[in-house]
Amino acid sequence: MIIAIDGPAGAGKSTIARRIAQHFGIAHLDTGSLYRAVALEALGMGDPADPATAERAAKALDLSMLEDRRLRDENVTAASSVVAAMPAVREALLDFQRNFAQRPGGAVLDGRDIGTVICPDADAKLFLTATAEARALRRTRELQGDAGGAIYQRVLADMKARDARDSVRRAAPLVPADDAIVIDTSTLDADAVFAAALAAIADTLAVTKR
Ligand code: CDP
Repeated sequence: MIIAIDGPAGAGKSTIARRIAQHFGIAHLDTGSLYRAVALEALGMGDPADPATAERAAKALDLSMLEDRRLRDENVTAASSVVAAMPAVREALLDFQRNFAQRPGGAVLDGRDIGTVICPDADAKLFLTATAEARALRRTRELQGDAGGAIYQRVLADMKARDARDSVRRAAPLVPADDAIVIDTSTLDADAVFAAALAAIADTLAVTKR
């Protein structure tokens, strides 16, 4: 069973993907961490906005970097959506993601293009979304445990800039797959999103079996 979970930053994808994977006893891949690792590597090599540098970083990707604490740093986050817009970077990460999805038993992958490009034949596709304000508030709380004004404004601005880059790019833009179930998480807590996601998956599997 392959479950694809896509959506913009801070919509709650990774949390829900982890819980769903645990629920079904299958593996989980947070594909955003791949682009973050490429960004970190490219920053170390020079300018991540330079396509040749970003491509070299993607080809040199060492999976142990997925555990690096610096992946969530602000400069790495911003650079991740810059390198992610480059077709050569996406191409370099394609096989790893598709192979991961083919694990025996199945897998849950979360990202931006799982239902559209990486696993178009996934058994269930969810697209989590929420208002930019709700997503920025969550991210601010993650960062400092409290929603203070100045940090919130910066997180909101950075998130909008990243969403815009992810949505307008030509290579695998952020859009729901035609057959994805959209869940708006703006007013839902993690338990409610999990319940809605499980119900959506059960519905999709029931329809395919019929
Ligand atoms: O955790 P958050 O939702 O803020 O971001 P992420 O999932 O870690 O993704 C970081 C960046 O990687 C995104 O802004 C996208 O530019 C890129 N990404 C992508 O292009 N395709 C994916 N499948 C996953 C992430």
